[in-house]
Amino acid sequence: PLWCSNVDDLMNEADAVTDTIPAFIAPPGGHLTDEMVEAYRRFGVIALRDFVSRESCRNLQQRASELVAEFDPAEVRSVFSTTRQTQLDDDYFIESGDKIRFFLEDDAFDDRGELRQSKENSLNKMGHAMHDLDPVFDAFSRTPELAASARSIGFEDPVILQSMYIFKPPRIGGEVVCHQDSTYLYTEPESCVGFWFALEDATLENGCMQFIPGGHKAPLKKRNYRKPDGLLITETLDDSPWHEERRVPVEAEAGTLVIFNGRAPHLSAANRSSKSRHAYTLHVIDRTCHYPANNWLQRSDELPLRGFE
Ligand code: FE2
Repeated sequence: PLWCSNVDDLMNEADAVTDTIPAFIAPPGGHLTDEMVEAYRRFGVIALRDFVSRESCRNLQQRASELVAEFDPAEVRSVFSTTRQTQLDDDYFIESGDKIRFFLEDDAFDDRGELRQSKENSLNKMGHAMHDLDPVFDAFSRTPELAASARSIGFEDPVILQSMYIFKPPRIGGEVVCHQDSTYLYTEPESCVGFWFALEDATLENGCMQFIPGGHKAPLKKRNYRKPDGLLITETLDDSPWHEERRVPVEAEAGTLVIFNGRAPHLSAANRSSKSRHAYTLHVIDRTCHYPANNWLQRSDELPLRGFE
């Protein structure tokens, strides 16, 4: 199936070198055309403009603001960072797979322990089960169009493993170093696919995503998992360097959906601009694949994984 990596033995990573990420107007009903599917196979990532309306983007932003209003940053000082992480942060993070939790930016607090900016402009992200716990997020995440797109790329029994609301706030929005999402959301065989929605215009200036086209043909470089003692580790499977010189930005207007393979290498620069870059991501896996018990994200039995219906 096309959600797996290395789906096409005839093409390798170098065949996908390009300076633009393939972008299309969203297809009717979410059914990808052959051309779109081919581009996804080749580059590991496609952008679909106007997949959702600006109104539904604003609607989701509004609901996110309401959830943020209920959050008290004094209760947690957890930061999310791909460059440094402590065990206390790990626990708050690890338990968030079936909850709605808030992760602050590294630079949220000043030297006196006060937030530098508004609460909303101090957050890195919210995660990881809004799609199952909040009606507004549920409605945004489960549409016939998304179900059709998932089917188009070969999902048999797609389930939404996690949702993330990315704030990428002005001035302090942190850098995300190059990684593959299957490192964190691993199945056997690999089936993770990211469905990323721009809720606001994402540009180079405010730290849009950047991809290494065709990089999904290369091996999974790292796997993150819990050791028997509970410690979260990231094991290196392949220490060859990324071809970061091949990275291509995906500037995306609000309403754009970016679909990318779980093995597609991507990154984003820090946001030093005065504009936020809100985005919403769903990570989907196939229920037919094995889900390891040592993945960080585990669901309680009361909240089983569901698909797009
Ligand atoms: Fe990612």
